Amino acid sequence: MRSVFPETMRAKLVAGNWKMHGDLSGNAKLLAEVISGSSGLSRTRAAVCVPYPYLGQAQDVLAGSPVAWGAQNVSQHAKGAYTGEVSAAMLCEFGCTYVIVGHSERRALYGEDSDTVALKYKAVLNTGLRPILCVGETLAQREAGETERVVDAQLSAVTGRFGAQALASGVIAYEPVWAIGTGKTATPEQAQAVHTHIRERVAEVDATVAQSVQILYGGSVKASNAGELFAMPDIDGGLIGGASLIAAEFVAICQAADR
Ligand code: 13P
Repeated sequence: MRSVFPETMRAKLVAGNWKMHGDLSGNAKLLAEVISGSSGLSRTRAAVCVPYPYLGQAQDVLAGSPVAWGAQNVSQHAKGAYTGEVSAAMLCEFGCTYVIVGHSERRALYGEDSDTVALKYKAVLNTGLRPILCVGETLAQREAGETERVVDAQLSAVTGRFGAQALASGVIAYEPVWAIGTGKTATPEQAQAVHTHIRERVAEVDATVAQSVQILYGGSVKASNAGELFAMPDIDGGLIGGASLIAAEFVAICQAADR
């Protein structure tokens, strides 16, 4: 399938989202295997987004390795009386590169709306970290033909407030909610269609940013389907849940992106 955008040299990114999984000894083993499996990657960056308590461990183990690390959420506030929250500046102190914002589990289970997500996105940018903005429709929305409308609204919450330039230092992850943790992956064609749509929407406000912004696909990506997804011209890597907890799977997904 061809992209409406000319071929560029966008690098690939494969980021693991560990969600609420892990323990110190298991993490040590997983991280060591991810480091050794990532050493031969040339145009693909591997990253892991770990639970907050393990950021120090990730920093200790991954510093100086080719693998980047990050968090799964952040407060929209810089500091203050927000019990239980973590600021972007704190994440900076642990050497994070990436911060996931607006994951569908945060939106659905913790009531995060697109305005809050946009503020979180900006809070991450303000500290020089790279937000990974998650967008995606539910099954009901897809079946009602609302995929594009939903994704547009989630994107424009950021671009409307902060301009398309805000996307220049971020990453977009298209994660159809119906494909997350269900074993039901979007077909490469379904994913490519939404990725192209996203790039076209961004191009309406900034053609240069549209060309350069990385758009990841997430939702039941495994070693067995990563290659065909990443072969699509507008899919620049993946945001990986369950498969990122298994070193051999995650490494194979990174290698599929690097081909
Ligand atoms: P799964 O890969 O487990 O479907 O999860 C995807 C996801 O939510 C990544 O953020």
